[in-house]
Amino acid sequence: MENALNLDTVKLAENKKEIVILDQTLLPNECKYLSISKAGDIWEAIYSLRVRGAPAIGVTGAYAYYVLADQIETEDKDKFVKECTEMMEYINSSRPTAVNLSWALNRMHNVMLTEKDHMNIPDLKVRLMKEADAIREEDIQISRNIGTYGFELLEKLGKGVGIMTHCNAGTLATAKYGTALAPMYIALEHGWDPKKDLHVYCDETRPLLQGARLSAYEMQAAGIDTYVQCDNMASYTMKGGKVGIVFVGCDRVAANGDFANKIGTSGVAIIAKHYGVPFYVCAPSSTIDMTLESGDEIHIEQRKAEEVTEMWYKERMAPEGVGVVNPAFDVTDHSLVTGIITEKGIAYEPFKESFEKMGIKPVEK
Ligand code: MRU
Repeated sequence: MENALNLDTVKLAENKKEIVILDQTLLPNECKYLSISKAGDIWEAIYSLRVRGAPAIGVTGAYAYYVLADQIETEDKDKFVKECTEMMEYINSSRPTAVNLSWALNRMHNVMLTEKDHMNIPDLKVRLMKEADAIREEDIQISRNIGTYGFELLEKLGKGVGIMTHCNAGTLATAKYGTALAPMYIALEHGWDPKKDLHVYCDETRPLLQGARLSAYEMQAAGIDTYVQCDNMASYTMKGGKVGIVFVGCDRVAANGDFANKIGTSGVAIIAKHYGVPFYVCAPSSTIDMTLESGDEIHIEQRKAEEVTEMWYKERMAPEGVGVVNPAFDVTDHSLVTGIITEKGIAYEPFKESFEKMGIKPVEK
């Protein structure tokens, strides 16, 4: 089983014309890379969760901007700007909840708008490629920093700690290391024994099983003592005293600390509060959306019914015609959050002031 740290979630192909993604819909059974360069294929890869996780879709958005801009054949700058704008809006429509996608696309777009007046189009395309590479490199460093802050919390709890996580916020969800799983990778770098010092409980994460397929795969491949549990088993495990801390990722954090993450996260937070288990959100500062006062303003993606009624089984597993609820994310109230771990430090209540002290400002979306 390949250590996930050795896999590239998303990168630019050597020919600089395609994006290479690891198709996460096939994991853990098959490790297959896809090379994509058409707008429709990139949109589909993001929508279908072939590449997923907030930071990873941000990096994909950045490369999508470069690869698609590179295909625009014109010397006319107005035409170039118009086509880039249309392409950016189309890619951005693939998934609405994670702020990282629009954040990365906007960062690329702003570079294009700022540089276009003193560069010719071929040079501008090279500049865009460098910006996308920079976004990927920064993501790796951000994840490492989050992992280091998270590891300090693990050290305080001591070796042998049980960690619960929901969905996948691991290396597969970022350019490398992940956010919620990064503390465990850093612990291994510090010589912690993967079998004795860390015990990771992965919620399976219905309906698309990112916890069972991806987090459990990552942690097990790293040699860590790993358990998969159905989503409705979190209370049992926490009540049994096996869990010292919860680490989850996030797709968008509002200024007051409310945050959206994979559906089911808020339930885990409520259970953690009940049993007094510290609950930490791992959030690159690009995920903090200071323009939103509270989580009520976060747009929750609704996905197709078949993910609930048919996926993963050869036969339908719910009656024909039954109504289906399938929100991809939910919002957890900030009152349930112990702290929000960013690459700049750990934010505590009142979160808005804590973010401001860290220099986190409203981002363009
Ligand atoms: O629908 P997904 O698989 O993209 O959802 C992913 C999550 O909810 C992650 O926890 C979040 O994006 C953070 S990834 C570092």
